[in-house]
Amino acid sequence: MSTQLFKPVSGHAKKITTHVLYEMKRKGEKIAMLTAYDFTMARILDDADIDLILVGDSASNVMAGHETTLPITLDHMIYHAASVVRGIKNCLVVVDLPFGTYQGNSKNALESSIRIMKEAGGHSIKLEGGEEIRESIERILSAGIPVMGHLGLTPQSIYKFGTYSVRAKEEDEAEQLIKDAKMLEEVGCFAMVLEKVPAHLAKKVAETVSIPVIGIGAGPDVDGQVLVLHDMLGLNVDFSPRFLRRYNNFYEQMHNSVTNYIKDVKTNDFPNEKESY
Ligand code: KIV
Repeated sequence: MSTQLFKPVSGHAKKITTHVLYEMKRKGEKIAMLTAYDFTMARILDDADIDLILVGDSASNVMAGHETTLPITLDHMIYHAASVVRGIKNCLVVVDLPFGTYQGNSKNALESSIRIMKEAGGHSIKLEGGEEIRESIERILSAGIPVMGHLGLTPQSIYKFGTYSVRAKEEDEAEQLIKDAKMLEEVGCFAMVLEKVPAHLAKKVAETVSIPVIGIGAGPDVDGQVLVLHDMLGLNVDFSPRFLRRYNNFYEQMHNSVTNYIKDVKTNDFPNEKESY
């Protein structure tokens, strides 16, 4: 099957850069981002004209089966990111800096980011936090590496928060979040993710900063949306937050396919004569 057939229909397929993303925000064109962790999925997303692929540390959950994002290592992230980069032509690839590779000091943060750029061929990095990691962000940016921020619910701090519930509902936390968003813009981040915050606050942030704000559980009034691929495809049935829209039920479909295959093997129906040499 030639996927090229579909290209003229969308007519998009332009190379996405950080500049293109600014322009999209300026023109009010929404930005679509999804996670991917491997070559095959990245190729499908890129061919469908996704703007951004996030090689998220959610790989720790959906690929490795950990309960949190904390255990995934920089080597693991580089492996996933390199696989994704080999599958894409047009979209921009953002790679999460995993827990413990940037919080210690800014030198450590820069070294981790350089490894992602050199060894995986990533286009940019994302890291979680505000003022407390400003120095690290500035140092990474000073090496010419594009940085995406991440505010609101920051899953690497789950043991500090204690829950995955909505963040910044109280005024003081909301005020701090706006300050952090302004800081991310001021130091030169090209975009930020805003996770699980009230929609009115997300709207305010998106109106306040000139860089794109990509929401997940942050309502409709931001510059783009991101979801975890395994969640939106219905591959991961254990996770059903209110913000998640499922576009398929692949868990069930794959389960049925595998059940049918097992039946065909056991009954000697597969392979048949046509499937044999
Ligand atoms: O790791 C991830 O998938 C993320 C998204 C939830 C934004 O950071």
